[in-house]
This record gives sequence, structure tokens and C-alpha cells, in this order.
Amino acid sequence: MTIVEPTAATIVAAAKLLTDGKLVAFPTETVYGLGGDATNERAVAAIFEAKGRPQFNPLISHVLDAGEARRFVRWSDSAERLASRFWPGALTLVLPRANGSAIALLATAGLDTVAIRAPSHPVAQALIREAGRPIAAPSANRSGAISPTRAEHVAESLGARVPMIIDGGPCLVGVESTVLDLSRDAPVLLRPGGISREAIEAVIGRIALSDALPTGDAARRSPGQLASHYAPARPVRLDATTAGADEGLLAFGPDVPSGAMLTFNLSPAGDLAEAAANLFAMMRALDRPGIGRIAVMPIPETGLGLAINDRLRRAAADDGKSDRR
Ligand code: TXA
Ligand code: MG
Repeated sequence: MTIVEPTAATIVAAAKLLTDGKLVAFPTETVYGLGGDATNERAVAAIFEAKGRPQFNPLISHVLDAGEARRFVRWSDSAERLASRFWPGALTLVLPRANGSAIALLATAGLDTVAIRAPSHPVAQALIREAGRPIAAPSANRSGAISPTRAEHVAESLGARVPMIIDGGPCLVGVESTVLDLSRDAPVLLRPGGISREAIEAVIGRIALSDALPTGDAARRSPGQLASHYAPARPVRLDATTAGADEGLLAFGPDVPSGAMLTFNLSPAGDLAEAAANLFAMMRALDRPGIGRIAVMPIPETGLGLAINDRLRRAAADDGKSDRR
């Protein structure tokens, strides 16, 4: 891992890493981000691997401006008003995925919505411009640690897991961006952050707090209602070592049972990063008419396997009753 000063040359080198599917930690005005190419499933899998999080949670895609955002999300009047007032800046908007949106499915954890923001930090902007694509970036820390506001924090937390850290000095805002969900009938504040609720309400009127949504115990009882949860409509059978004629098989590794109606292999080589990159696309491809049930082969409970299994267990517990949000 190297810490570099932001110069024209290091931005070009960082953008090259990103377009090669590698990760770069970079400053934003809120906190440092662990960036990867938001359109590359493998790069997004590498983000989850480096963070060591046992779950796939949806990530924010960083763009230059509203014009660029419109290529990836379905824009709205509220989005336009908020973006003209607060972008670039510490406000993340959750909007429906645009048709043909290039954002990786893993970056949105399989959801039909995309969280998007235009950061104001000049280094973040230079990197997005040079890479020529949206950058997916959660805070640049290991899972469970606090968000880093200095390059040294990133180095302490992630170390060799990130090849390059761009040192842009301390982050001026110092807390994460506000996350506002505009994909529902009425706007909902999902995470308080750098832009205040009052400031947002001054632009679009009253917004609801996420307490209004089912979370916590209620969500555990009915996981299909959890906003950040994608599950197939068909029942899911885990730890499958055989496959039925009415089943779609989500395979893993070289030894695949025969007999399924349709089979997709997450990774014939048994590579967990490849499996994570394929997970949502293959689940969706198997979740289709004619398939009675999705059978999933065992996935090792190590590294990215934890997050893959977490997602599969939730899909199985959901028992086809999800509203697919
Ligand atoms: O300030 C920030 O937002 C920093 C910098 C790097 O931009 N990023 C950051 O990302 O805090 P992360 O991954 O740590 O937080 C993303 C938040 C999470 O609370 C996640 O649940 C929410 O955004 N989120 C992302 N996509 C979503 C979606 N499609 N629907 C609902 N919530 C979403
Ligand atoms: Mg975080």
C-alpha cells in the first residue's frame, strides 16, 4: 500500500487502478472512501472483501454531477431540486435504477434502487473524471471500525488491503453524507449526515424519518419488508448436493450435480470473489417462470463466503414472500 499526494500523475495512476478493477482510497468532503469501479462486479466484490463485512450492504455510487447521475438512475423533480441546491456535496439520493443502468448489481446489493451522490472534494472529482466512470465507495475502514477522516486512519484500518491511498488532508465535513430515499411515494431520511433534515425540508417540504419503515425486530420477523433486502420470488433450498428437475441450480465449484432444469455456476474454480460478483445476476437469472425452486450448493463460510451465505440465508428465510424491494 502506498500513500500518495494528489497530483496530475497520481490521479492518472489511481484512475488506471480503478479501470483495471483495483481499489483506491480517496478523500471526499465527508469521509475517506474505498473506491472501486461501480460498473464492475468484480471490483465491487473486492470492496466487500477488503472491508471484511459479513454482509453485502448497498453502496453509494459517486458521480460528477446530476447530468451523469441521470445515466444510472431514474431522475425526478425532487432529485433535480435537491441536486441543484446541495450537489456537489454531502447528500446521497436513493432513486430507482434506470433501464440499462451500468451500475453493478453487487453495488446495490441486488436492489432496484441506486444510492448516488456527487462529492464536492476536488480530489474525488478529479478521480471520477479521470476514471470516466462512477466510483462505488463505502467509508474506507474495516467493518465495525469508525469512518476515516484522514489518510492515516485508512492506512491503519485497511493496510495492504488497498493498493493506493490518496492523501487529501483531513475531511472538512467529517461525518458521512445524508442518505435520502426518493424512490418511494414520499421521501424518507435513511441516514442523517452532512446535510441537515431542516435544510432538505426547506427545498422539498416535509420528509419522513426511517423509523417510519419496518426495521429491527419487525424486519427480522418479516425479512421481506426490510428495505435493503433483495430476495428471489421463488423458494430457495440451501446446501443442495443434488438437484431436482423442477429446480434451478446455483452451483459453486467444479463438482456439480446433474438433473437441474437450469444451472448457473457462481464460480467453477471455487473462487469466492468471482462468486460474489456473479451472485445477484445469477439469482435473478434463475428466478423466472418455469423454475419451481432455486437450489444452492454449499458455499464455504470463509472470507466473502460469509456475506454470500448471509444473503442466501435471507433469501431462503424469505420463502418467496418478498415484495422484491
Ligand atoms: O459520506 C459518505 O456517504 C461516504 C463517502 C465515501 O461518500 N460513504 C459512505 O458509504 O458512508 P457507506 O457504504 O458506508 O454507506 C452507504 C449508506 C448505507 O447506510 C446504505 O445502507 C445506504 O447508504 N444505501 C446505499 N444504497 C442504498 C439503497 N439502494 N437503498 C437504501 N439505502 C442505501
Ligand atoms: Mg461506513
